[in-house]
This record gives sequence, structure tokens and C-alpha cells, in this order.
Amino acid sequence: MHIHPEFHRFLHRRDKESLLDQRGIVVWLFGLSGSGKSSIANAVERVLHQQGRFTTILDGDNLRTGLNANLGFTDQDRLENIRRIAETAKIFVSQGIITLVSAITPRGELRDLARGLLGADLFEVYVKASYETCEKRDVKGLYAKAARGEIQHFTGKDDSFEPPQCPDLVLDTETTTVEDAAFELLEAIRERITPI
Ligand code: ADX
Repeated sequence: MHIHPEFHRFLHRRDKESLLDQRGIVVWLFGLSGSGKSSIANAVERVLHQQGRFTTILDGDNLRTGLNANLGFTDQDRLENIRRIAETAKIFVSQGIITLVSAITPRGELRDLARGLLGADLFEVYVKASYETCEKRDVKGLYAKAARGEIQHFTGKDDSFEPPQCPDLVLDTETTTVEDAAFELLEAIRERITPI
């Protein structure tokens, strides 16, 4: 291949971070569909924005209408989905942006891939709620469809969700409100986003 990546002439991350007066991080929220990932990401982003922080959200559902529109839910497609999200997050964090990812990321292998690409910039947050709870909430009506056999590879039903070994943070949305979970997350990343 005749590809010559060039980085040394570009402005450095610290130049972008000092302009923004913050440090970049990738906060990766993962968990079952309906566990509360997007709601928490949204609440966290609003507070950070009010505090003058520059943020963005990479949401699995939204990206699947654009960048990842050609991907489905096979193991291979989920791997490519997560690879693209992680590579995109890597570009954003290299510009000093606080990047909130919301994607099911159901298997250890997928989280390993994200960790391999993002390294120390990654902050892994397990948004925990049982299949039964998510099925009761069923905000998008997908659990009912899955029960009727209308969705293939549905996470937690015919496709597995592997709970994480040692995430940076666990937010249990069965016992915590979105507001409290957002507050807990903001506290956990406060020092990491503050300029040195
Ligand atoms: S991931 O597994 O590859 O990380 P991602 O977060 O991008 O998934 O997309 C999950 C969203 O796609 C869910 O919130 C849901 O709205 C929708 N969806 C459609 N089909 C499925 C399925 N078979 N399994 C899980 N989610 C699905």
C-alpha cells in the first residue's frame, strides 16, 4: 500500500485542548438497549455544555442511519460498527473534544477493540439494567417485536450480552435515576477533563 500518514506538521492535541480549556476523553456508555445509555449521555452533555465544555455524542442508533447504515447485527457487523465508532471517537478526542459514546457494545471482544484503539483516553461505563427491566420499559417497542420473533440477533435474547469484568464505572439504572447517574458520571470524570 502506498499510504504515507503524516502527523508531525499538524497542530498538536495540546494546542486544541488549551484553546478549549479542557482535556479530551472518550466516555463509552455500554449496556442493553433501553438500559439508559442515551438518556445519561444526554443529561451529562447538557451539564458539561452549561459548564462551557465542548462535547459531542456518538450514538449507535443515530450512526446506524449514516456512517454505519450498511451494517446489521451479525458479530462481524457489530465489530465493524464498533471499530468505526472508536476510530471516529479517536479523531474527536485528538481534537480535545469530550466524546460521549452510546452503543450496546455487547461483547468483551468489542470493548477490547475500543480499548486497543483509544487506550488511556477511554473511560468505560457499564449502564446496567436486566433484560427483564429493559423489556418492561420497552421505549422503542423492540422487546415486544423480539418476543414475537420479528427481530433477529436481538441483544440479550438470541445474541449474548457479556457483562464486563472491570469497567471504570457501573451505573445501575434499576436503582438510580438518570439525573443521579449523570451526576455520578460527571464526578467520576471531573478531574480527567480539567486542564492541568
Ligand atoms: S452494537 O451492538 O453494535 O453496539 P448499536 O448500539 O450500534 O449496537 O445499535 C443498537 C440499537 O439498534 C438498539 O438501541 C436498537 O434501537 C437497534 N436494534 C435494531 N436491531 C437490533 C438488534 N438485533 N439487537 C440490538 N439492537 C438492535
